[in-house]
Amino acid sequence: MISVFGSLVGDEEIANVITCMKSQWMGFGKNVDIFEKKYQEKYRLPSFAMVDSGSNALFMAVTLLDLPPGSEIILPSFTWVSCAQAIILAGHKPVFCDNDLYTMNVRAEDIQARITDKTAAIMIVHYAGLTVDMDPILALGYPIIEDAAHAVDSTYKGKPCGAIGDVGIFSYDAVKNLTVGEGGGITARLPARIERAKVMRYCGIGKSGFDSAISTAGGKSRWWEYNIQEPFIKMLPTNLAASIGLAQLDRIDTLQARRKTIWDTYQQALARVSGLITPPEAAPGDRHSYFTYCIRVPRRDELAHYLLGEQIYTTLRYHPLHLNPLYGQMDVRLPNCEQLNQDALSIPIHPRMSDEDVEKVIAKIKAFYS
Ligand SMILES: Cc1ncc(COP(=O)(O)O)c(C=O)c1O
Repeated sequence: MISVFGSLVGDEEIANVITCMKSQWMGFGKNVDIFEKKYQEKYRLPSFAMVDSGSNALFMAVTLLDLPPGSEIILPSFTWVSCAQAIILAGHKPVFCDNDLYTMNVRAEDIQARITDKTAAIMIVHYAGLTVDMDPILALGYPIIEDAAHAVDSTYKGKPCGAIGDVGIFSYDAVKNLTVGEGGGITARLPARIERAKVMRYCGIGKSGFDSAISTAGGKSRWWEYNIQEPFIKMLPTNLAASIGLAQLDRIDTLQARRKTIWDTYQQALARVSGLITPPEAAPGDRHSYFTYCIRVPRRDELAHYLLGEQIYTTLRYHPLHLNPLYGQMDVRLPNCEQLNQDALSIPIHPRMSDEDVEKVIAKIKAFYS
């Protein structure tokens, strides 16, 4: 079966994991510090902290904005469930807006239509790794949470995605462009927010606070005491995950080059398939991460089942959130998201695919529509 998403690890990741295990310290530790420093430098981020998942990073990002309880946060409906869950868990209300049919991203107009006097922030998602047009959204004047889970390596007008809004997050889960197994990252324009994030991620104590309690052990009769700075849950990344991340960072340019080759091959080969709409390229001056290759097609469900029979796994990312009864917004009509729910399909793109895999996907799609 050709999988739709995937990562590629090699001998370096394996060696790093073995070294980490031999050190007998797999939990939070100095590999995390090294990964944070290297990642921040590579992507020119103003600040950076690693956490244990992109989903948790989203919850942290919303919390870091300190919005009044019950605020409305506008976000695209065509996104992963963690976006809405983070807003609710932080005590706010998700308000879904439509996505553009062509870019599958949110536009300032889509957001503007959903603004009320309770709107306190906007959450955007760089879908598939294609950069959202941020300037008109920044001009709306609200704090912005930037979900760059798909957009490791994407840029907007030369700036790294994740670092354009107030707070940005990344995902390093098993199928992302850079994987650590499960993991995430968070950046903020104000570095003080990331200093706070580093305290929050360890149950609101902060690992450095804990360490200093221990290091002053000699002078304290109760060295096990520490100050708790705020209520928060545990989101610590591990030395083990960071050791994988360090090797992935060394190979990310090669991984990205492979994704781009597959993307370019699809763009050329599928452009003339009747009725098939290929995804847009990055705007001039922007860089795409090629996380997902999402086509729009007639007879989408039939195609997906046909490809499955041919050992090619495809999927839809995402089932629009407003169509989920949990959020109580099923009466809202978001026609583009509803259209994407009928005709969008992600086909395989990842660095483990061989040229033969890519040719097979193309040949089978062409055969289906011939
Ligand atoms: C748009 C988006 N945001 C957030 C996440 C959450 O990331 P994680 O899987 O690391 O929790 C994902 C995961 O796929 C995602 O696609």
